[in-house]
Amino acid sequence: MTHGHCVYLEACALKAGGFLIVVRQLTLARPFSTPRPDSYAPIPPAIRSRKHFVDLPPGPTSRLPGQLLYRFQKDTPAFLIDLRQTYGDASSFFLNGQLFIALFSPEMVYQVTTSKQSSFVKGVGFARMRKVLGEGLLTNEEPIHLRHRRMMQPPFKKDRLDSYSSLMTNLTREQIATWRDGSEILLGPEMMRLTLAIVAQTLFGTSARRYERPIAESMEVAIDRIERTMLPGLQLFDDLPVPYWRKFGEAADELALIAEELIKTRRNDPNDSDDLLGLLLSLHDDDGVVFTDEEVRDEALTLILSGHETTANMLTWAFSWLATRSDIQSALRAEADSAIWPQSDKTPSIEDVLGNDENGAPKLPVASAIVAESLRMAPPVWVAPRRAIEDVEVDGVQVPAGAHVIVSQYVTQRDQQWFPEPNEWRPERWYGDLAKRLPRGAYFPFGGGTRKCLGDQFALLESRIILLEVASRMRLGPADANQPVPKAQPRATYRPKGPVPMKVSFN
Ligand code: HEM
Repeated sequence: MTHGHCVYLEACALKAGGFLIVVRQLTLARPFSTPRPDSYAPIPPAIRSRKHFVDLPPGPTSRLPGQLLYRFQKDTPAFLIDLRQTYGDASSFFLNGQLFIALFSPEMVYQVTTSKQSSFVKGVGFARMRKVLGEGLLTNEEPIHLRHRRMMQPPFKKDRLDSYSSLMTNLTREQIATWRDGSEILLGPEMMRLTLAIVAQTLFGTSARRYERPIAESMEVAIDRIERTMLPGLQLFDDLPVPYWRKFGEAADELALIAEELIKTRRNDPNDSDDLLGLLLSLHDDDGVVFTDEEVRDEALTLILSGHETTANMLTWAFSWLATRSDIQSALRAEADSAIWPQSDKTPSIEDVLGNDENGAPKLPVASAIVAESLRMAPPVWVAPRRAIEDVEVDGVQVPAGAHVIVSQYVTQRDQQWFPEPNEWRPERWYGDLAKRLPRGAYFPFGGGTRKCLGDQFALLESRIILLEVASRMRLGPADANQPVPKAQPRATYRPKGPVPMKVSFN
């Protein structure tokens, strides 16, 4: 297969029982390496020396060539934590010859993501994501971003999610019904399959079913090859004719083709439009202009990518930690029992899952706290890389135009001032009024400003439903008692390493 013009193989099961291989030649509209649209703000050149910038915060240097890069690549979260411990809230360093400034205090996070966000564009990793997602919401910039954001925001508002909650509940029930008492499941792939089915069917309706496997396979490759989201220079490898990088291009092509095909089918048969795709195709901006098919394709792929891996990883971490705390497991089971709907064939309303009581506390305090704490310790989006497009001062730190800027959920959410014993998974810290006491920027698993996650309520809804549906029927325990919690394999998202086997015990 070549990029930009590729052949899509589809295996169809014949009623007679055999397999027919249908080969269709399709032309892909979006080439693998698309230039940055002209309407975006130009990116100033990277800064390659400290010489003219006397005000830069302190930071590590390489004693031997490549030493810092090696430490960064070996364990990026540990590198960032070490930066904070050694240099405090602000530090600077050079990677691949380019200046990076790391900003960790809650106020700095708030200024970069929210109050001074117009001085920044999304950083290097997003350019690589653009190869897979085109100009969808995650990767696009102003002025395209705000137009799309305004159009796409309404269906993701809390009060519009009701129709998704029954789909989420039913798909969860369908999947966990295949888990047998005493058996072992691979939690990572199971969660990935479930959250993918949820987001794909929310978007494309049941027509997504037959594409779930190729979507899952290509997404897996694409997310893996996007790699760590911050390293400049990786794009130089993308066009190398070696299998590792070639597969990146093929996965991107495959995903674009599937989305284009689903859109084409829907255009030809607009009746079946009770899903998000139908809505995306009908959305128009203030001037009455609708999305083009290419725009819908990029937004659909964006929703699939951002909408399943994140939640799946977080749930895999959550169930792993939960298995180490029998008291929290029992509390979750009791919450599932009193919520009634997980026991019956009813499905919950938004209010049942996301609602608060008369004191403003969550109606599902245990499930909410498990999710909040897992998002704190293992934030699926663990860094938000940015690039300064003008000189800007961030809480007293001078950031020159062209600098790469890093804020990190992983680091800031481990600040012991706000989270005592920050490396302990303790959902109970959220039972009181912690969420209200935190300063802005101290806890930001969904980002902030106009780039805040579009699917935050969607993600909270589905993860609380999945936790309670599982807890009402069974307990999951680690298959290996010596290693109850998996190691991390941080990529574009903060993934657990390996498939995470778990033992199923029915209640
Ligand atoms: C636990 C699950 C999730 C987490 C932790 C998460 C986190 C985030 C974060 C931190 C950002 C901002 C990135 C940045 O500023 O650099 C973001 C953006 C985004 N997320 Fe999520 N996300 C999750 C689930 C979802 C879901 C379920 C969807 C959709 C169904 C979604 C759709 C998006 C979109 C479209 C954006 C781009 C928004 C924009 O820039 O306007 N996310 N997400």
